[in-house]
Amino acid sequence: MSVAINWRKRQSYIARSEMGKTMDKAWLKALGHMCYGIYVLTTADREKINGMIASWVSQVSYDPPLVSVAVHPNRYSHDMIQGSGHFALHLLKRDQRYLLQKFKLPNPASKFESLAWSRGETGCPILKECLAFMECKVRKIYNPGNHTLFIGQVVAAQLVSEEPPLTTLDYEGVYLGRE
Ligand SMILES: Cc1cc2nc3c(=O)[nH]c(=O)nc-3n(C[C@H](O)[C@H](O)[C@H](O)COP(=O)(O)O)c2cc1C
Repeated sequence: MSVAINWRKRQSYIARSEMGKTMDKAWLKALGHMCYGIYVLTTADREKINGMIASWVSQVSYDPPLVSVAVHPNRYSHDMIQGSGHFALHLLKRDQRYLLQKFKLPNPASKFESLAWSRGETGCPILKECLAFMECKVRKIYNPGNHTLFIGQVVAAQLVSEEPPLTTLDYEGVYLGRE
């Protein structure tokens, strides 16, 4: 099984300490202080697998259970989600910060290296170590701005641990979503 190669270089997040200097717009400063969970989103298109950090994630319906995730079209994962119609979201435990280094950069060779994972019902990679995971089937796709909003119906899920979740409060950077 091969992890697809993506060498594009992007800077879509900045260190929190840089915010004052970089963020001259009032709305950007305010939005930069919103709190989110930090998730590993995985996807698979046939034999190719990939994963990325995503924080612009929310539940949007109880019945049916729907979640939304905003993904920039530059992300390699973007076209894989669109092509396969599936993605999986992993809630992380607070002590899993090390996964940020693996999944926040387009460095495919090391993304799943030394991690235990298996294919879920949707074919998406499911990390063995996580707080919870949910596998989603894409139901709607919107293009409201510079990110694509994927609305996915949760078709399989499991709570793995009751530990505290990793959130943007545990992260020194801010995801701006500029590019
Ligand atoms: C804390 C944090 C949150 C992020 N949230 C998102 C997000 O919600 N949507 C997005 O498109 N990229 C987000 N990213 C950026 C992607 O994780 C990053 O661009 C990654 O390299 C994409 O991988 P890919 O191109 O292999 O899919 C975030 C990065 C960090 C560090």
